[in-house]
Formats: sequence, structure tokens, C-alpha cells
Amino acid sequence: ITTQVAIMGAGPAGLMLSHLLAKAGIESTVIEVRSHEEIARTVRAGILEHGTVNLLVDSGVSDRVLTHGDRHDGIELRFNGESHRIDFKDLVGESVWLYPQTDVFTDLAARRMDDGGDVRYSVTDTSVHDLEGKPKVWFTDADGVEYEIQADFLVGADGSRSHCRFQIPEASRKWYFHEYPFAWFGILAEAPRSSDELIYANSANGFALISQRTETVQRMYFQCDPKENVAEWDDDRIWAEFRGRVNGNGFELKEGPVIEKMVLPFRSFVHTPMRHGNLFLAGDAAHTVPPTGAKGLNLAIHDVKVLFEGLDSHYNSGSDRLLESYSDRALERVWKAQQFSYWMTTMLHTPADADDFSRARQLGELNSVVSSRHGMAYLAEAYTGWPGRG
Ligand code: DHB
Repeated sequence: ITTQVAIMGAGPAGLMLSHLLAKAGIESTVIEVRSHEEIARTVRAGILEHGTVNLLVDSGVSDRVLTHGDRHDGIELRFNGESHRIDFKDLVGESVWLYPQTDVFTDLAARRMDDGGDVRYSVTDTSVHDLEGKPKVWFTDADGVEYEIQADFLVGADGSRSHCRFQIPEASRKWYFHEYPFAWFGILAEAPRSSDELIYANSANGFALISQRTETVQRMYFQCDPKENVAEWDDDRIWAEFRGRVNGNGFELKEGPVIEKMVLPFRSFVHTPMRHGNLFLAGDAAHTVPPTGAKGLNLAIHDVKVLFEGLDSHYNSGSDRLLESYSDRALERVWKAQQFSYWMTTMLHTPADADDFSRARQLGELNSVVSSRHGMAYLAEAYTGWPGRG
């Protein structure tokens, strides 16, 4: 197979890039080790920044996000038993959309299929070669046929366990890591909405997040030990945990059968630079953020937008200036999102060994945000997505 851009990974980043390239007359082949069904079944976060929504709609992926997604003009921060609304529309004039990542994937995959895009799921035996020259990718397709892709560029959009990332020599990269002493216990429950907006709750018993999916299915999380075993949590124990973190002062969660439960990993990671030779990394392959604030998918889509501008300008304007600056331009937003996700995480979670000082200081921090228009505006601007490309 000879193509212009080979893309490893058919998650939202890989498919979005392939879609944008196709619209600009640039060929790509996408390969993915998981099956279409497996990706579509994986429950992920649900908040899209306005910039992500605009890219999906304006590039013609789908307007289902506008018809089936829910626009959210604010969130609630809940601490000391009181809720405080952060009004995004009023503070920064923007909103976010609640539209699950699995739906973003389904829309992108359908669009690529309708447009005749070359996307191959369930491939095996992948390996990448000649990253510093003309990259090659070897793989075996779902029918057992072996292929070699020859491309001008290779894009590693192959997720947090990226195969591509590991092909970059140690001397040519730097890794930044931060571990946290907690994880998230995530559930899907059959229950009506408890609130129209998301509730980010801090309590002496730990953090909880009340999100939504549909009229009848809700998504919620609570801070847990990274080694927590979901098998030890029946519905009664789960709801008791939520009650102890969010109920009070007239607010009561609407409960129902738990239909899915999982522990979500929690760490901050950045690989720099995001380019090596003719390999470009995008999305989780280059960085992960803790889930607080739902920046993962939004960052991946931003990477791809910046990378697309570079590739478009290489092929269609004969200039490599934007491609050369891809890593720096993408990383600028990556580090802003790392800071925001770290800040939301540490402000809202309670370490198991928190002493009286750190608990009281944390409430001081939360109060300094909700009592100040400037404090709330920082949160609103970061949550809805910084303007421009930086
Ligand atoms: C969801 C996940 C998040 O990490 C977040 O910050 C907000 C919402 C969600 O799954 O709905």
C-alpha cells in the first residue's frame, strides 16, 4: 500500500485526522488493532469543548452532537454541603457539550466509511520502520493477509499504550510523569438525572462527580484507591459511598441499578517532542491527563487540528513551517491542560492522609475560586477550552 500519511490508531484522533486530510485531497491509510465494536463499546468521558464541537460540525463529520448532545452552560462545584454554580456563558461567553466519546467515534467511523476512507480494524502483527526516512508499517489484516504501507509520514495516534511512542530512541525524547494516590470508580446507573448540570463535589469523604448520559442512564464517579476491586462493591455499598459525598442540605441523588462499574487509571504523562523524524504523535500516544475536567479527547482533537494544518501546508502550499512547529504548538495547549487537570484534581480530591491543615487550606482554595469572578473565569475559560490554538 502506498499512501501519503499512514495513521496508527482509529480512535477519534486518527479518524479525525484522516477525515480532515481527505477533505484537503491528501491520502491516508488508518490501521487499528482493536475491532470497531470494541472501540464503540469502551465507555469514555463525555464533555466536548466548544472548539471540538465546531471542528466536528464545520468539517462535516456530523451534526448529531448538536441534535443529540446536551449543551451545558455551567457546572456546579459542591463543597461543605453547598453547591456553587460556575456560569460559563456569563463568565466567558462559551459552553461545552455533553456528548459521549463513543458517539464521536461512531460518527467519525461512519463518515470515513461513507467517504470511502481506508480504515482497517482488527489488524495484528503491527510494526513500524524507517521513521527517519520514508516510514513503513507492516501489519496483517483481519483476513490474515500481510501488508506493507509506504508513506511520506507516519502518525502515531495509537493511544496511551502507544506502540509508535516506544520506537523513539530514549536519547531523542523526554518523558514527564506524575502519579496520584487515587483513581476513579466509574459507574453507569439506570436512574433519572439528579441534576441538569455536572456536579464536581469535594467532601471530607473524597471527591465525586455526577454526570449524565440519557434521560434514563447516568454516569457518576467517586475517588477511590488505585487498587480498588470493583467485585467488592455491590449497589448498596456504591450508593452509600455517593450519598456520603454529595447528599445534604436538601440535595439527594436519584439512585437505581448499577449497570456497569470500572476503575479508571489516573496519571499525568507527557512525551516530548511530539515528533521524531517523520513520525508524529497525537492524542493519548503523546500525553495523558487525569480525568478531572475531561480534557483527554479535546486535547487529542486539538493535536490533530494543528497537525492537519502542518500536513495541509506541506502538500498544498509547499511550506514546512507549520509542520516544523507542530510539536511546540501542540505542547503549548497540552501543558495548559496538564495544569488545569492537575489543579482541578488536587483542589477537589482528598488524599487519604490529609491533615487538618491541608483540608482547611483546600476549602480556602475552593472558596477563593467561587467567591471571585476572576477565579471562576479561569476555571470557565479552561473548562470550555482556551481560545485560539495556543
Ligand atoms: C465525564 C467525565 C469527566 O472526566 C469529566 O470531567 C466530566 C464528565 C463524563 O464521563 O461524563
